Amino acid sequence: MMKILDQIEEPSPAISYAGLIERIEILRSTLRWSSRLERTDIDKLLRQATSLRDEVMQLSHKERFVQAATSAEPHEHVDQSRGARRKALLERSFIFEGTFGDNARLLESLEIAEKAAPTDLPVLIDGESGTGKELMAKVIHANGSRADKPFISVNCGAIPDNLLESELFGHRKGAFTGASNDRKGKFESAHTGTIFLDEIGELPLAGQVKLLRVLEAHEIQRVGSDETIAVDTRIVAATNRNLRQLSEEGKFREDLFYRLSVIHVTLPPLRERRDEIPLLIAWFGDEAAGTLKRRPVRLTPRLRDFLLNYAYPGNIRELRNVMYRVSCLAGDMADVDHLPVDIRPAAPGSAAASANASASATGQEPISVANLMSLSDAKRAASDDAEKAFLERGLREVNGTVAELARRIDMNRSHLQMLLKKHGLHSKEFRNRAMPQANRNGADEHDEEEGDG
Ligand SMILES: Nc1ncnc2c1ncn2[C@@H]1O[C@H](COP(=O)(O)OP(=O)(O)OP(=O)(O)O)[C@@H](O)[C@H]1O
Ligand SMILES: [Mg+2]
Repeated sequence: MMKILDQIEEPSPAISYAGLIERIEILRSTLRWSSRLERTDIDKLLRQATSLRDEVMQLSHKERFVQAATSAEPHEHVDQSRGARRKALLERSFIFEGTFGDNARLLESLEIAEKAAPTDLPVLIDGESGTGKELMAKVIHANGSRADKPFISVNCGAIPDNLLESELFGHRKGAFTGASNDRKGKFESAHTGTIFLDEIGELPLAGQVKLLRVLEAHEIQRVGSDETIAVDTRIVAATNRNLRQLSEEGKFREDLFYRLSVIHVTLPPLRERRDEIPLLIAWFGDEAAGTLKRRPVRLTPRLRDFLLNYAYPGNIRELRNVMYRVSCLAGDMADVDHLPVDIRPAAPGSAAASANASASATGQEPISVANLMSLSDAKRAASDDAEKAFLERGLREVNGTVAELARRIDMNRSHLQMLLKKHGLHSKEFRNRAMPQANRNGADEHDEEEGDG
């Protein structure tokens, strides 16, 4: 028994459907043949099941990513080449780490990341809050030769100035009040891996000097120590400030700026890559549905219109939050009422609403974008509708007898019940009351349908 468990403990690095199915089968037979399971075995099996699920998710994300890319509006030449570019990245086994979108500027950043990843060159990523800087840093790490080594993230803006140096470089016992022990810093922890210096613009000048030294000599000194320690750490830094401007103002060392930005990636704000919004809506809608264990929420045209034209000061993070929020609050269909109050558009007819309308009438917002429903959304809606119509027709034909319908369409009965529930269909309502009692052969299934909510 434990032998079988141990065999499936180590997932293979390359995920394929065949490999996954094999592992699922091993898991299944482990369960089938075991007469008794200890709690530790159960935990182990659960862990394996979880990792299998995650890998299936990853595969299906990958697949949808290609699908979305290749199904992009064929009349647009640009989209075709975008699809091809993204597909090419995939074919070269590029790891996206969940990065989604098909804007030309984003793809360009990903292509830069792909080329920069295997090198040890420092990378500077800038962009507004929520544009995906940290995600991009992870992409660079995951695609490089250090992928299986540590990725250490330090938020330079969140640590008090007087502690930052010790945090990054470590300190010696007694170096300052409170330094009761020798301590190693993040650079040492990130040795052989990658260090991600977030909000690098907040690094005080003294720390900047030390950082420069790491970049030049690949060595550090703990605070309060003369001893130099060699570190082999790849540096990826991020900022939402304009470092060039900061360096002109004397707040950031110019030489450090140039050292850090050998490869410079700027992530555009979401409002400058609106063409990506429909894809991101579908992506985060699916993701939220998975997390919340519900079917993907549908959006009213009014909400979709809003989401396509909103300015997103919080960028992708804000769009993601909104999709999670509406997926959590709405039933089948989400509307503008489900938006957070502070961004919710005013009710039609109000002064604010007509101001909005005239703003868009003057052409400030690209109105045509509002008409772009993503193809995958349209397909999903159509397929849902077809499913519902099929079930309704079936129920009518079998006079509301679920067991009979399940037999006729060769479907597992509980699966059918689930589908009926999903569409809010009540089999009772399809029963012909004029029918004589004797003809109703499924009286026993009354109970299981009453749970419909
Ligand atoms: N292209 C993308 N595809 C999918 N998800 C994305 C994308 N870009 C960002 N995200 C998601 O948006 C959220 C914000 O991204 P991230 O934390 O990388 O942004 P950031 O630029 O570091 O933000 P901040 O400046 O506020 O720290 C994360 O949940 C991230 O996974
Ligand atoms: Mg960040």
